[in-house]
Amino acid sequence: MIAEAKPRDIDEIHRIFKLVDKNAWGRQTLEDAFENENCFFLVLKQENKTLGFAAVMLALDEAELLYIAVDPHFYGRGFGKSLLAAVLGRAKEKGASSMYLEVRLSNHAAVSLYENFGFKKSASRRGYYQNPSEDALVMVLTSF
Ligand SMILES: CC(C)(COP(=O)(O)OP(=O)(O)OC[C@H]1O[C@@H](n2cnc3c(N)ncnc32)[C@H](O)[C@@H]1OP(=O)(O)O)[C@@H](O)C(=O)NCCC(=O)NCCS
Repeated sequence: MIAEAKPRDIDEIHRIFKLVDKNAWGRQTLEDAFENENCFFLVLKQENKTLGFAAVMLALDEAELLYIAVDPHFYGRGFGKSLLAAVLGRAKEKGASSMYLEVRLSNHAAVSLYENFGFKKSASRRGYYQNPSEDALVMVLTSF
């Protein structure tokens, strides 16, 4: 089941975030994003266990995919695809007609996932990431 996250989901979202990213947002950043009316979070659950989440920011008809992650114990089972499909559906319902994101150049799994959905590489941002320092690839899906 994929649904819009509630504040009670923050702990599980934070748990998965920390599992997949040593630069995971802090708890306060997550709480602030939850309170931001321009943001929405989706969670993917099975038998009440949270297996993944996505965070999106909306600005008029443009959406930014802030993050998407699956619990590494459950990689490769299609959950990332399901989440991204749900993200696009929900963003469209909320008025978005394009979506962009930044991703580490070396994150082949994520880049491949985005390409599967039609995202195109549009630019790079030099030194965008730290720890370790790396360029970001900007990817855009112009209509969905
Ligand atoms: C990216 C991520 C969400 C994919 O989740 P997942 O549930 O394993 O993905 P799925 O099983 O749905 O696979 C979807 C697609 O992702 C790509 N993919 C997933 N794992 C991959 C791997 N190890 N190598 C290459 N491509 C991969 C493929 O395109 C795959 O499609 P295919 O099965 O038709 O080839 C997951 O790897 C993750 O949480 N990574 C850490 C967090 C992260 O980097 N998020 C992106 C931040 S910008």
